[in-house]
Amino acid sequence: MRARARNWMIFWVFVVVVAVGALTVLSGVLDPEYDSAAVDTAQGVTDQQVIARGKYLATAADCTACHTSKDGAPFAGGVPLATPFGTIYGTNITPDKEYGIGDWSSADFYRVMHDGIAPDHPLYPAMPYTSYRGMTREDSDAIYAYLQSVRPVALANQKSEIPFPFNMRFLMRGWNLLFLRAPLPDASEGDSDVWVRGRYLANSLGHCTECHTPRGLVGQLVLSETLEGGSLGAINAPDITPEGLAARGWAPHNLRQFFALGITPHSTAYGEMFDAFHNSTQYLTESDNEALVAYLTGDAPLTPTALPTVEAASMTGPGRSVYVAMCSGCHGAQGQGKPNVTVALNGNTTVRNADPHNLLHVILAGLEAHSFPNGQGRQEMPGFANELSNQQVADLANYLRSAWGGQKPDVQAAAVATSRGQASAPTD
Ligand code: HEC
Ligand code: HEC
Ligand code: HEC
Repeated sequence: MRARARNWMIFWVFVVVVAVGALTVLSGVLDPEYDSAAVDTAQGVTDQQVIARGKYLATAADCTACHTSKDGAPFAGGVPLATPFGTIYGTNITPDKEYGIGDWSSADFYRVMHDGIAPDHPLYPAMPYTSYRGMTREDSDAIYAYLQSVRPVALANQKSEIPFPFNMRFLMRGWNLLFLRAPLPDASEGDSDVWVRGRYLANSLGHCTECHTPRGLVGQLVLSETLEGGSLGAINAPDITPEGLAARGWAPHNLRQFFALGITPHSTAYGEMFDAFHNSTQYLTESDNEALVAYLTGDAPLTPTALPTVEAASMTGPGRSVYVAMCSGCHGAQGQGKPNVTVALNGNTTVRNADPHNLLHVILAGLEAHSFPNGQGRQEMPGFANELSNQQVADLANYLRSAWGGQKPDVQAAAVATSRGQASAPTD
């Protein structure tokens, strides 16, 4: 869509949101009250047990991702989140009475999880309450108990940098009325207990949909395309519907390995998925890991698509020459990878993605070093933006796609030029 047309569309959608926002303020809708229940009153459960459960749940929900800044104290906030509407900062959620949530009741806390409304203002949906809304009151109370037990930190919140008119917070009430839905649609078919648990882990705690579902003009999730792939950051979050995963060769045991270890024979977690893995999915218990995968694949998993075998004749050409000169030293002459050093590119899930966006981005910008469990370190991968022309990158991508990805060699130099503009910094 052309920029000007898009701006007008945003403007009109915005007008509707303002109107609904004003109406809801006037009518007092969406200001629910909750009881301040004593935290977990189940018999025989000690405070320490509730806190331990809350810690596990906060990890599964990855609160750290947006509330603990690099080198900052746990949950003290200050994490910048870039949105199309400006930068918003994750807040201080330690029990500090002045700057954190030390004065909040468990009901105040649940209202944030369920409705996105803090005691003195509605929140921007950069806080993923669209997903946390599905959280049970009991789990919300356990997370609350855990957060009240961490070290209080007296650190003031950073003001969000949202320009007028989006900085009028009452608008969020309109947004909520239009877009806040529970439950989120199912991503697969199933009704086993494991699947139901997995749905809760994926939809409510893990908030997978916030990155993996496309968004509309005012940042709302396009729920009719649940988990079909989103593009919040420099790296796109791929399609993780059962069909999307099977098309890239994912079998349930590989997915379990991916969430537990971050590395499989055909992929490593990188970009924002590395953080989700590092802070969150690697700590899931074995049964929760299985449940998450059962939900993604459904109770009757599809057979992963086999990679077509490619004639040796197509292994030559300009793309192959670039590969041999620039990549084979690390990824192997046949794209087989090197144990403990690099991942295989033959059959790699990024190479098998019909959308070449992530492949081009990684080639141009490279990847930062990452450490994985079991002492599996991965050195950084250099970016090749300065070494290779747009045509060379397109040739390389087309070679990888057709030889080892089962994809059409349809990447044009123009697409590389677009990617180049977005790939100025290395990917973390
Ligand atoms: C994707 C990023 C993200 C994740 C994940 C996230 N938050 Fe937030 N959270 C935010 C942002 C951004 C704000 C501030 C929004 C605003 O200013 O309107 C916020 C605000 C809050 C607030 C309101 C604080 C205040 O002082 O108004 C609470 C409480 C909170 N989050 C708790 C949590 C908990 C608990 C979790 C995990 C279950 C969590 N958040 C996970 C981004 C996130
Ligand atoms: C110096 C060694 C090195 C070179 C040279 C190199 N890579 Fe990599 N590459 C890596 C490492 C290490 C990773 C895994 C990084 C991580 O996950 O932290 C990686 C990851 C990737 C990935 C992401 C796939 C995944 O699942 O993680 C792609 C795609 C890729 N490389 C393509 C290429 C291409 C194409 C070239 C040649 C232009 C190339 N690499 C050159 C070391 C290298
Ligand atoms: C903060 C954004 C974010 C969140 C939250 C997130 N992901 Fe991702 N995910 C990504 C990105 C970006 C990639 C692409 C990089 C990669 O392949 O590692 C990705 C990749 C993946 C892949 C590998 C796809 C492939 O073919 O290589 C799987 C599987 C996956 N995510 C599942 C999940 C699940 C399940 C959840 C929820 C528990 C989740 N993700 C939460 C951003 C996110």
